[in-house]
This record gives sequence, structure tokens and C-alpha cells, in this order.
Amino acid sequence: MVIKQWQVNPSLRVAVIDDSQEYAQFAADCVCRVLQAKPAAVLGLATGSSPIGLYKELIARYKSGRIDFSQVRTFNLDEYVGLPPEHPQSYRYFMEENLFRHVNVKPENIHIPSGTNTDLSKEAENYAQLLATYGPVDLQVLGLGGNGHIGFNEPGTPFSSRTHVVQLAESTIEANSRFFTSKEQVPRQAVTMGVADIMAAREIMLLASGEQKEQAIKAALEGEVTPQVPASVLQTHNNVTVILDPAAAALLDCIK
Ligand code: GLP
Repeated sequence: MVIKQWQVNPSLRVAVIDDSQEYAQFAADCVCRVLQAKPAAVLGLATGSSPIGLYKELIARYKSGRIDFSQVRTFNLDEYVGLPPEHPQSYRYFMEENLFRHVNVKPENIHIPSGTNTDLSKEAENYAQLLATYGPVDLQVLGLGGNGHIGFNEPGTPFSSRTHVVQLAESTIEANSRFFTSKEQVPRQAVTMGVADIMAAREIMLLASGEQKEQAIKAALEGEVTPQVPASVLQTHNNVTVILDPAAAALLDCIK
């Protein structure tokens, strides 16, 4: 396995991995390490293309008896408003298809915000309460929006935010339209864990790959810490691992 790793500072590690299989294995090793230390760990989970390889690898390890989710509790970052669980583009559906139905996580230990609750602010409040009850998250898996968003916390979201309802940025609607038949079908709102909820995790693993993420990665890791780049808040967390492919890492100075 040829993996380049940098301990950029005591709180931040960056790994750059070219091969997608090795990338997934490296990310899965982080999850396994957390579950070995604490079988009843709370995992914060993300959707999107970035964690799919990780989830495939976790499923393979579960099937070969190398990992056990029986005591694990999960919290997903976000959900589109208006999409029911059976909608193929809902994040609930994504998680069932890409992870949950293949492993032994207990249905009652799975938490994903509901995008169809008629009282969305109540939904957000309840989710924040669940996080307060069962948290903190031991390991939070994060993807990165091209505009620097984490979860669905769009540029400008206060760092103090808790789970809330958001209006999606135009660039997010555009980027996510690739999963829908047309841009018009992309929901305009979502329920997302807030920046403060994400930062409360004991450890964070940020996954990003592809040239389309190079600017966002550069801004997040080496730019000003500002709500205009939500992921830049990670510079103030004390335990972050960033896993990139060479394209996403291309602009970084900290690894040269
Ligand atoms: C969506 C999700 C984010 C995710 C982002 C990146 O907008 N709400 O949580 O990080 O997509 O997705 P991808 O991994 O497909 O690039």
C-alpha cells in the first residue's frame, strides 16, 4: 500500500491515496480502530459519493467477521426536506442501500433526520436532543461540498449552529442535480446537523476526492477560518484525519 501521510499539526493528519481500494481500506481502518476501542461507539455518517467505497469495505469486513455493528449507534448528517424514506434519492434510502441493510446495526440505533415531518423545526429540535442524549459522536465521517459545505451547512452558517432546516445553495442544487432526473426535482431545503454538532465529535474523518474538490480542500485546510467556508472550522478541531486522492490534494502546501 503506497500511502503518503502528513501530521500537519498535532490535531490534523492528511493522507493522500491514489488507489480507490486502498483509500477505502484506509478509511475503514479508522472506523475499525474506533469500534475496537469502543464496540458501542456512536458513528456520525455521511452520504454522497465520497463514503461509498468506505461503506463497501465496511460491509466486506462485516461479512468476513472482522467488524461488528451490534452495539453501534449511528447519526446521519442530513436529509432532504420532502423526500420520504422510500425515495431513491433520500439519504435514508442511500444509507439503507449502501450500508445498513448489509450489516448488523440495529434499526433502533439508526438516526437520520426525517425530511417529511410536517413540523420541521420540531424535527430539528428532536434530532439535536437525540444527539445530546446519545452523543458525543465518537467518529464523524464527513464529505465536502464543492462550496466548502459540511453536512448541508452552506457558506454563511454560524459555527454555533445546531441541527436546523437549511435552504440549499444554488451551487449545491446544481451539484446534486446529477442524482435527479432534472434540476427542478432537487429539494430546495434540508435538515442538517449544525456545525457545532459536527464539531462536538471526538474525532472527524473528512473524505474528498477529485479535481472538483481541490479548491474547497485548499480553502478548508489552509484558508481563513470563516463561516463562508464551513469546513474551515475543522482547523479548530483537535482530532481530524483528512483522506484525499492526489487530485483533491493538488493545491495543498502543507503536504509538500
Ligand atoms: C451532499 C451532502 C454532503 C456531502 C456532499 C459531497 O451535499 N449533503 O454531506 O458531503 O454532498 O458529496 P460527494 O461526496 O458526492 O462529493
